[in-house]
Amino acid sequence: MKKYRKQIALVTGASSGMGRCFVQQIAEQYPYLHEIWVIARRREALERLWEELPETEIQILALDLSDKSSFSVLSERLKRERPCVRLLVNAAGLGHNGPVDSQALDGICDTIDVNCRALMAVTRLCLPYLKPGSRVIQLASGSAFLPQPGFAVYAASKACVLSFCRSLQEELRPKGIAVTAVCPGPVRTEFFQAGGISLSPLKRLFLAEPERVVRKALADAAKGKAVSVYGFSIKLVRIAAKLLPQGALVRLSSRVLAARHD
Ligand SMILES: NC(=O)c1ccc[n+]([C@@H]2O[C@H](COP(=O)([O-])OP(=O)(O)OC[C@H]3O[C@@H](n4cnc5c(N)ncnc54)[C@H](OP(=O)(O)O)[C@@H]3O)[C@@H](O)[C@H]2O)c1
Repeated sequence: MKKYRKQIALVTGASSGMGRCFVQQIAEQYPYLHEIWVIARRREALERLWEELPETEIQILALDLSDKSSFSVLSERLKRERPCVRLLVNAAGLGHNGPVDSQALDGICDTIDVNCRALMAVTRLCLPYLKPGSRVIQLASGSAFLPQPGFAVYAASKACVLSFCRSLQEELRPKGIAVTAVCPGPVRTEFFQAGGISLSPLKRLFLAEPERVVRKALADAAKGKAVSVYGFSIKLVRIAAKLLPQGALVRLSSRVLAARHD
């Protein structure tokens, strides 16, 4: 007899911002899922989300994704429960701005560990549990399109995410699984506060609402799009990065786009 397997969505970075919005919108758009597994460090914030969604079975994994031991915890849980992962959303992430020589080594390592290492590790752990029709949504950023002096480590981490998504999309295509890299410009979340970043007036002008970015990302992922870009300004950056000489654009971005340090 075929063994019953529950269908789940797994969302990292679910305690705030876009990760939280993903959980809310997945609960609304995918009512047939048996559970949504949510990962972040702040257990209380995850518990508040659980209270807000009484109709949805939420499984809380309060994990620090900068710590490698969190991967073993997730791996064990997956092996024990053997779910079918219909949607994987890697939204955990952080960034600090300022010139590289002004940044603490811990901050640089944390950025790479969460934005890149954890995203790839969580994806790798989930791969055996994805099925044809499953969707993988990875939070990259508009910073992935162009190096960004003053935000160099973060932009490089997101370029890494975008490159990873592009390759994975091709690897998983024959299995009927689509990978979508979400590349928004600035979004109104706790991200800036968490990283001690004060937004430049230009970026403030283009701040997007997280609900809209997430709605578009889910729609694009359902269509199997490789890249989801919300907002006119970041679409323009993407086109410019494809067409214009990178050196000149990087110099321009260092003058115009770089956020100020607090
Ligand atoms: N906001 C923007 O302008 C913007 C633009 C483009 C891309 N993005 C990307 O979008 C994603 C979501 O960011 P957001 O804007 O929603 O920011 P946010 O509100 O600050 O959310 C970041 C999430 O990541 C989690 N996180 C951070 N470090 C973690 C760790 N060590 N272990 C586990 N979870 C960790 C946080 O949870 P805990 O603190 O509870 O651990 C939080 O849930 C990030 O990858 C970010 O780089 C953001």
